[in-house]
Amino acid sequence: MEKNIAVIKGDGIGPEIVAEAMKVLDKVAEKYGHKFNYEQLLMGGCSIDANGVPLTDETIERCKAADAVLMGSIGGDTTTSPWYKLPANLRPEAGLLGLRKALGLFANLRPCLLFRQLSDACPLKKEISSKGFDMLIMRELTGGLYFGKRYTEEKNGVMTAVDTLEYSEPEIRRIAKKAFEVAMQRRKKVTSVDKANVLDSSRLWRKVVEEVARDYPEVKLEHMLVDNSAMQLVKDPAQFDVMVTENMFGDILSDEASMITGSIGMLASASMNETSFGLYEPSGGSAPDIAGQNKANPIATILSAAMMLRYSFKLDKEADAVESAVNGVLEAGFRTGDIMSEGMTLVSCSEMGTKIAEFI
Ligand code: IPM
Ligand code: MG
Repeated sequence: MEKNIAVIKGDGIGPEIVAEAMKVLDKVAEKYGHKFNYEQLLMGGCSIDANGVPLTDETIERCKAADAVLMGSIGGDTTTSPWYKLPANLRPEAGLLGLRKALGLFANLRPCLLFRQLSDACPLKKEISSKGFDMLIMRELTGGLYFGKRYTEEKNGVMTAVDTLEYSEPEIRRIAKKAFEVAMQRRKKVTSVDKANVLDSSRLWRKVVEEVARDYPEVKLEHMLVDNSAMQLVKDPAQFDVMVTENMFGDILSDEASMITGSIGMLASASMNETSFGLYEPSGGSAPDIAGQNKANPIATILSAAMMLRYSFKLDKEADAVESAVNGVLEAGFRTGDIMSEGMTLVSCSEMGTKIAEFI
């Protein structure tokens, strides 16, 4: 199989972690007889430096023309980087949000599972972590608070800022359908997270999710308020299978969920549209503090590449091979700094990529 992959390495640790994912993909191609062609594109801070804007039409068009997009991370230190002196719509993050919107990537899948070998890195009490957990956060990605009307104005001499949380029925329906479809492939449970005791948008969310649920009688649906969900994630994460939620709630809960897996450096993600096209990126940020030091954990990016093989290219066997290579390397005791524990072998970002490629 021959596939064209648009590659956005981005800023900070982005270039380092993407290089390792490409190393692993190349090994997959070699072993299974595929050909992956890469086209490198700019987005985020590096695009601001080169083009004056975080996202160009050229990058959008080239991504659309590709079979999938592999991304690292974007952005810099928000207190020191000159990118954050620019107006909000010209900062690195605006590039990512613009790309998600332009490509129609409304469904963000973030699988969070505790690798048995990393249970020591899990900050939860032993009696909770020993039960393990394996959940998938389905975050709505092109609506809600992130894309509602926003402005800052002076009102009667007082500076006032407004952000709005808006959802239409079709927007809720399509993400709910994705959640139930994915749940059918898993343990058949959906937890819909909202704030229906306060927000109108959540009350509509709940109603539409219930309607969609009728088409999936095998799936058990439960509703949970977002504040309670934040608590349940650290109290009993094993209860969750698929969690579906609004953009901002999903942003926050997925960072929380990543931390209980041991490190945000372990959390992969896929952002999909209605088809099998997707953008694959680790959930973590650009970590400017360790950029360029060959210290970052490339596993989330490598697992994101595995999601690309599975969801966009339908290469299940190859995706399984990448996931079991990650397992094998962890089993063999290799760790980057973020997941290091006593008795294990500390490796660099590039060594971790090489080890995983060797296990393919
Ligand atoms: C994420 C990130 C982004 C988001 C930022 C970089 C805009 O935190 O992918 O979770 O908030 O969506
Ligand atoms: Mg986030």
